[in-house]
Amino acid sequence: MMEQLDDGLTPMEVSVFEPAAERDARNRVLPPEEWMLHQPLIDEIARLKVERKAVVLAHNYQTPEIFHGVADLTGDSLALARLAATSDAEVIVMCGVHFMAETAKILNPERTVLIPDLAAGCSLADSITGADVRLLRQRYPDAPVVTYVNTSAEVKAESDICCTSSNALEVVESLDAERVLFLPDRYLGHWVASQTSKELILWQGACEVHERFSAAQVRGLREDGKPLQVLAHPECPPDVLAEADYVGSTSGMINHLKRVRPPRVVLITECSMSDNVALELPEIEFVRPCNLCPHMKRISLTKIRDSLLQRRHEVQVDPQLAQRARRAVERMLAIG
Ligand code: 13P
Ligand code: SF4
Repeated sequence: MMEQLDDGLTPMEVSVFEPAAERDARNRVLPPEEWMLHQPLIDEIARLKVERKAVVLAHNYQTPEIFHGVADLTGDSLALARLAATSDAEVIVMCGVHFMAETAKILNPERTVLIPDLAAGCSLADSITGADVRLLRQRYPDAPVVTYVNTSAEVKAESDICCTSSNALEVVESLDAERVLFLPDRYLGHWVASQTSKELILWQGACEVHERFSAAQVRGLREDGKPLQVLAHPECPPDVLAEADYVGSTSGMINHLKRVRPPRVVLITECSMSDNVALELPEIEFVRPCNLCPHMKRISLTKIRDSLLQRRHEVQVDPQLAQRARRAVERMLAIG
């Protein structure tokens, strides 16, 4: 007997009402049976979003059922910060990691910002504290502090300006100083340093997902001699980036693929990126070595539903701290 959904429709009937092109596209990233399993939660979340006047923001690393099933807006860290800054929803649900939700709260102190799992952290954000930044400033008093958004509000509050992987070079170049403290990702810092005449003083933080990729692994992917474009995230080690045809943020990679449309591609970044991009670019074959971000993967449809139902987990930032952190984030957003 066919399973009945909450609203009395069978899974088959539900799929009949979905435009065929959209259904076919979604079925390229997850099999229909899986979408049918997710559908009751997707429908419940859709209802709750309207009821709670909520918007769901999702990072490019979220799984397809979140990215294509319930997100209203998607993007890289910079896009999510911009979207959070302009949102007029009463409630923002951030499907990403904690620093992203905190950034949304810093930019929207009057709104409710929820993260479906409070433990969704980040190895980069955990690598540095506000006290570390104060010590660095004492040691290098002439160097402005550029902080990657993958940091806590406390660290942002001690910084002159933030950056993301999309705009890091632009931000560094915008400063009227020859020496810059660039925190906390040493690999992103190394990548920026290779393109600017300014001296960058780096912190030793790293992303636990991107630092696991190796140059030998990338060379191995090319060994069969088939054409392969390698796109890498700048959080990867320098020898990995040296093997890449393109280096850029997650949205940078998507834009590059839309522009160039190479037939065969590998994205040297978190696993879910390929699934999410494959839906839009079916003509591209994705080779998929898989490094998962365990923090991003803490977010699930069930937790998003519960987050909306129970208004949890509400992200709070001390107002004075938020005011100082906001200066650094807004200064970055003003760069364009
Ligand atoms: P972007 O989305 O800015 O490229 O950053 C990737 C990342 O690792 C976010 O945590
Ligand atoms: Fe942090 Fe790396 Fe996960 Fe991004 S992928 S959230 S930088 S641990």
